Amino acid sequence: MNCKIGIFDSGIGGFSILGELKRVLPNENFLYYKDSKNNPYGEKTEQELFHITSAIVEYLKIRGCRIIVIACNTATTRCIKKLRMVYPELIFVGTVPAIKIACDGGFQNTIIMATPSTIESERISELIKGNKKESQKFYLLPCKGLAHLIELQKQEQIESLLLKLFSPYQNKKIDSIILGCTHYSLIKKEISKIFCHATLIDGTKGVAQEVKHQMKLNNLEMARNKQEIKVVTSKI
Ligand code: DGL
Repeated sequence: MNCKIGIFDSGIGGFSILGELKRVLPNENFLYYKDSKNNPYGEKTEQELFHITSAIVEYLKIRGCRIIVIACNTATTRCIKKLRMVYPELIFVGTVPAIKIACDGGFQNTIIMATPSTIESERISELIKGNKKESQKFYLLPCKGLAHLIELQKQEQIESLLLKLFSPYQNKKIDSIILGCTHYSLIKKEISKIFCHATLIDGTKGVAQEVKHQMKLNNLEMARNKQEIKVVTSKI
């Protein structure tokens, strides 16, 4: 396959981004690396993550991908800088918690759900500092174990973990929730059941638009009239 856009995540989370990419780039080929074997990324050290993600980048690179979409907030906040340094010949588009969208939207009380690793990353504080207005409050919520349950599709356990995670916020007038892990975009319905008045925000559309922009900027667009999508899975 003459592939150009490589995508990866620790499993099914990045499918939300792949879905949007398919829509905005109907003439491109995609190769998705679904790294279920190494899920959860969010509970690994930065060294472990760099080791894993650079092996995936190699895999995608030798299959002809020039642009790589890190469809994972954890891998982006922890590894994108180093990956860009090690692979200057590739274009990387990352995914970060959509804090800017929440700030621009004027939300006052926002929960940021993300993996423990993303929550502890410097990038989160940079994004809050760089975008927050005085009156806006952010509650950082590390959701240990949640991405793994979503990967394994353990419905009942997902719902009871959500109840436990959200219980301290029931009287905080939460008006928005940032889904700072791509796996969480797959459980919007379950989250809305608990916070039915909060707006759920993810970075899916922004990532797809950035990929489109980079394709144009780097002259990578193809004049094909069909789309090929291939998904490879690391062994569980
Ligand atoms: N989907 C990933 C993210 O956006 C990571 C989930 C995990 O493996 O912990 O952060």
